[in-house]
Amino acid sequence: MSLIQNLEWRHAVKAYDPTKKVSEQDLNTILEAARLAPTSSGLQPFRLIVVESQELKEKMVAGALNPEVMRDSSHVLVFAAWDSYSDEKIDKVYDHHTDVRELPRGRFGSYTDKIKAMYAAQTVDEHFAHTARQTYIALGLALAQAAELKIDSTPAEGFSNEVVDEVLGLKELGLKSVSLLYLGYRDQEKDWLASMKKVRVPMEEFILKK
Ligand SMILES: Cc1cc2nc3c(=O)[nH]c(=O)nc-3n(C[C@H](O)[C@H](O)[C@H](O)COP(=O)(O)O)c2cc1C
Repeated sequence: MSLIQNLEWRHAVKAYDPTKKVSEQDLNTILEAARLAPTSSGLQPFRLIVVESQELKEKMVAGALNPEVMRDSSHVLVFAAWDSYSDEKIDKVYDHHTDVRELPRGRFGSYTDKIKAMYAAQTVDEHFAHTARQTYIALGLALAQAAELKIDSTPAEGFSNEVVDEVLGLKELGLKSVSLLYLGYRDQEKDWLASMKKVRVPMEEFILKK
C-alpha cells in the first residue's frame, strides 16, 4: 500500500484489544522511523520512552483523557524533549557526528558557536518550546510507520505531563513529556471511530496557491 493509502487506513483509535501485543520486531521498526526523523541542527533534542509495563501504565493513567485507551494499548511511546539546550549537550551531539563521519572534533565549530550563542540568548521556556516542536516530526513518522505495518495508534496530548514525568523520573534525565503514541490493535466493536469516514478540510481550502 502507498503512504497515502496507509494514512487513509489509520485513525486515532479509541479502543484497543488488550489481548493483542505489538511484536518486538514491529515495535523496533516504529522506533527506528522515529529515530530517523530530521531535527533542527540534527540535535535530536528528545528521547522516546517505551512503556509496556501494565503497572507503569496504571500509574500514568491519572489525568489521562482516554484512560482505557492507555490501559488497553500494547505499548505507550512517550515523546520527551530536553528541558533546555546547553553548550555541553550541543558539543556531545557534534562530537558524535564528527566521530561517526571520521572527521576531526570541532570540524563544525563555527556552526555550533552560532547555535550556542542563539540558545544562550533564549530563556529555558523558549528552549523547551523548540525541543518539544521537534518531537512532532518523529511522532508523525512513527504513526505512519505503524500504519504501514497495519498497527493501530493514537497520538495523544490528553494526559497529565506532571504525572507522566513523575512516574517515569523524567526530570532527573533533563526531559519533559510532550506527547504520547499509543500502539496496539483496535477493538473493532468498541472503537466507535473505526467505522466513520475520515474528515479533512477539502484540498482547495487547505492549499493556498500564490
Ligand atoms: C498532537 C496530537 C494530539 C492528540 N491528542 C489526542 C488525545 O489526547 N486523545 C485522542 O483521543 N486523540 C488525540 N489526537 C487524535 C486527533 O483527535 C485525531 O488525530 C484527529 O481528530 C484526526 O483524526 P484521525 O487521526 O482519526 O484521522 C491527537 C492528535 C494529535 C496529532
